[in-house]
Amino acid sequence: MLKFAPSILTADLARLGEAIKEAEAAGVDWIHLDVMDGVFVPNLTFGPLLVEAVRRVTSLPLDVHLMIVQPERYLEDFAKAGADHITVHFEATYHPHRAVQKVKELGKKAGLAINPATPLEAFEPLLPELDLALLMSVNPGFGGQRYIPTATERLRRLKAMRDRLNPGCLIEVDGGVNKETLAEVYRAGADVAVAGSALFNRRPVAENLKELKEVLYALGGR
Ligand code: DX5
Ligand code: ZN
Repeated sequence: MLKFAPSILTADLARLGEAIKEAEAAGVDWIHLDVMDGVFVPNLTFGPLLVEAVRRVTSLPLDVHLMIVQPERYLEDFAKAGADHITVHFEATYHPHRAVQKVKELGKKAGLAINPATPLEAFEPLLPELDLALLMSVNPGFGGQRYIPTATERLRRLKAMRDRLNPGCLIEVDGGVNKETLAEVYRAGADVAVAGSALFNRRPVAENLKELKEVLYALGGR
């Protein structure tokens, strides 16, 4: 079963609590929180304070995606704020392995993310220790971007690597997932789909989620 993790980046932040409750009632699996520092990516969002606020309104797993340089400086703060999964970028630290170990020491699920231009092999040495492998299918920084088609083949190769090295690690795809691209990311082996605009834009989350799930039913998935 493919899991859905709505990114709150495209939710109405003025009524974030309601938007999250609406997503939870619609049947999403995780809440995805995009933390940006204006250095690693050309955008700024929020920090542990908001994670803490979101923690108070939902019992769903909080999937925190850190797009910040030297993420090791803040791992403890995000853990304390109530993150369940903490994902760091391979490109954002000199020591991705140390950062992943630190997340695990804090008792949280550890994820590693890579950008579209980073060779897939970056995952290989760390895969045996990861709970999540996040493949970016857009350049990180903004919601609402177009899916980069080369991500599909990278997902296939990542799935083969994951099956060989750590079958328990989940593959998460992030960026441009919508009703047009969902079938290919699902077939290529994604376990978790992050979706911002496809879930929060235009219509109620429940209707958007239903439309995405229909794509999966049509493929014989669930
Ligand atoms: C991009 C973020 C994504 C993004 C997804 O930097 O990591 O999580 O918000 O948004 P959509 O689904 O609109 O591409
Ligand atoms: Zn993200």
